Amino acid sequence: MTTILVTGGAGFIGSNFIRYFAQQRPEFNIINLDLLTYAGNPENLIDLEGSPHYTLIQGDIADQALVYSLFKRYPITRVVHFAAESHVDRSIMAPDAFVRTNVQGTFVLLESARQLWLEEKSKLEEEPRFLHISTDEVYGSLKSQEPAFTESSPYAPNSPYAASKASADLLARAYYKTYGLPVMITNCSNNYGPYQFPEKLIPLVIAQALDHKPIPIYGKGDNIRDWLYVEDHCRALLRVLEDGRPGETYNIGAQNERSNLEVVHQILQILQDQQADGYPLTDLITFVKDRPGHDWRYALDTTKLNRELGWRPEVSFTTGLERTINWYLGQRDWISRIKSGLYRDYLARQYGSAI
Ligand code: NAD
Ligand code: TYD
Repeated sequence: MTTILVTGGAGFIGSNFIRYFAQQRPEFNIINLDLLTYAGNPENLIDLEGSPHYTLIQGDIADQALVYSLFKRYPITRVVHFAAESHVDRSIMAPDAFVRTNVQGTFVLLESARQLWLEEKSKLEEEPRFLHISTDEVYGSLKSQEPAFTESSPYAPNSPYAASKASADLLARAYYKTYGLPVMITNCSNNYGPYQFPEKLIPLVIAQALDHKPIPIYGKGDNIRDWLYVEDHCRALLRVLEDGRPGETYNIGAQNERSNLEVVHQILQILQDQQADGYPLTDLITFVKDRPGHDWRYALDTTKLNRELGWRPEVSFTTGLERTINWYLGQRDWISRIKSGLYRDYLARQYGSAI
């Protein structure tokens, strides 16, 4: 049976992708290689546990012997590489893990794929494909009136997170150019949706509001992000995995630019309308010290993906937010289990007494 290796599949986007992929391509075996860091939660895919087509392997993508052995053991012809340290604030606090996982880990995956795919090509059941998942943050920051980033915009990462992802992208590119490894790269805007770890803005706001706790806003709250519903991202990834051109990069974005304060107010409005207790949720908004090197604005031009692969986002921001909030409302236990662990210490280190 054809096998896909997904890395970081116990995290936010990876778990949404695996669920979507299992529905769309039931003929595949799925191997999920995930270290299960604080951000990885096997509970996210509990519905697939016990399926003969799904295997979770707890391990590090930077462990060369392990990764190589997986390529040897399973007939892997597809790789979708999500595994990463993914939170900008943590990269500012402790950048080491970002270099190790995002740069070294990506290198190990590319190198194992090169050794097994290119040197033992005759044994493969089909042409292999490697999809490397990246972010719009590699392009740096835009001013208010500047045009959106295209795939040929120069790289100008500003945080250790963005720099580590940019480094990984450059390695992926080099493996195509030098060795002909069939790599596609996608650079996506901010995702939101079910299963996102509550350190990121949207789930953080929802979780804090549900507990009537302060909602920390960096600076004046006027930084701008382009928000994409995670299911739209997963649909785009499957299109690129199957029909994207090797060696190419594709931007994935929603053309849905909002200031942080706009996003926060919209979430609080939806929650306020649903709550019977009348608690004034906007009073929870608390302005805190700005993030160092805080990128002002991200926006992506997605003409290439639309023209070549016919993809466009389908879920409006209002619908996506309502679905996300409803999901979190149904998952209070999921949030409390996360909050009872090491995450509590992180919140204290990041925000001090502000929240
Ligand atoms: P996440 O933090 O929710 O999940 C990351 C997963 O990777 C976790 O399951 C974690 O356990 C695993 N992991 C971490 N280090 C590992 C290692 N050394 N070996 C194996 N597994 C390891 O991240 P996410 O938000 O789902 O992001 C997934 C990918 O998408 C990342 O590459 C990220 O850079 C990219 N991306 C994210 C967004 C976003 O808005 N979340 C936007 C664009 C791109
Ligand atoms: P985040 O979800 O961390 O994603 P990214 O930094 O990768 O875009 O943050 C989204 C925006 O929200 C960003 O401009 C920073 C801001 N933000 C806050 O104002 N307060 C917070 O507590 C967090 C986590 C983010």
